Amino acid sequence: MVAVTPETGQDRALAAAFEAAVAADERVEPRDWMPEEYRASLVRQMAQHAHSEIIGMQPEANWITRAPSLRRKAILMAKVQDEAGHGLYLYSAAETLGTSRDELLDKLHSGRQKYSSIFNYPTLTWADVGAIGWLVDGAAITNQVPLCRCSYGPYARAMVRICKEESFHQRQGYELLLALSKGTEAQHAMAQDAVDRWWWPSLMMFGPPDDESAHSAQSMAWRIKRHSNDELRQRFVDIAVPQSEALGLTLPDPDIRWNEERGHYDFGAIDWTEFWEVLKGNGPCNEQRITQRRRAHEEGAWVREAAAAHAEKQARAHAEAPAQADADAAADADADAHAQQHEEARV
Ligand SMILES: [Fe+2]
Ligand SMILES: [Fe+2]
Repeated sequence: MVAVTPETGQDRALAAAFEAAVAADERVEPRDWMPEEYRASLVRQMAQHAHSEIIGMQPEANWITRAPSLRRKAILMAKVQDEAGHGLYLYSAAETLGTSRDELLDKLHSGRQKYSSIFNYPTLTWADVGAIGWLVDGAAITNQVPLCRCSYGPYARAMVRICKEESFHQRQGYELLLALSKGTEAQHAMAQDAVDRWWWPSLMMFGPPDDESAHSAQSMAWRIKRHSNDELRQRFVDIAVPQSEALGLTLPDPDIRWNEERGHYDFGAIDWTEFWEVLKGNGPCNEQRITQRRRAHEEGAWVREAAAAHAEKQARAHAEAPAQADADAAADADADAHAQQHEEARV
């Protein structure tokens, strides 16, 4: 299963230990030996995931200033901030593999690493916020819940928290669409239109069909992935169809019907030409998203400089007066322990 060619007896022993750990469903941790291909594959996947989180803030942030009520605005802001947090957990997790956040961002900005194609579609109406929460975050959860059992420890642990937040995202989207669907005729039509536009791109989020997916088989053998693209897509359709009925909305696919024999919903063929075009950079918003991301990065330069200057000052202070710094650290730890006791007392 591992594409390494161990040269020495020691290498062979390490490779065997790695394989045995993965096969036994143990977690691989940053300091453990791992094949270079495994490391590279994880960096690629985690970077793409982190990039998707932060680029994914853009389509919805577009509606924060136009949210129809204070409640909706508070929910949407919380959600968009969660996505920034997801990006940070994932960049940090990727750094444990020996790559830096700067390097990854650089690859995003120069187009050498990708983010999910779904974020290259525009958010035309307020209902798109609902459709994204219900469908896009819903598809993300379907994809990500199995990643909580991914063989790489830091990635698996980051996903546990991310999935909890994603389920809030999915529910707020569903609830928003339900309100629109049960509202005026115009609101219902707006919700339906958003679902019509987001349905097919959401199905594409699971990636190409299994027989065309470049990385799938190896990722599954390494237990980074647990299920194939097509399997997860089917799982998502099976969940979404009854939910669409409860919402009083239809899905834009006349071929959806329950298949008694398979125990799943059948659905129509996906237009993969569209998927590959968007991936190549020809989607409706590719240009806009990456331009905005580069601008945000440039505008944030002063924050990074200030943080680096602060860290340097702290390090200098520690070097000059280690005893005092240690005393400060001990006081901080004490305060933390105190706060924790309070927490526990409340529980
Ligand atoms: Fe997220
Ligand atoms: Fe989300």
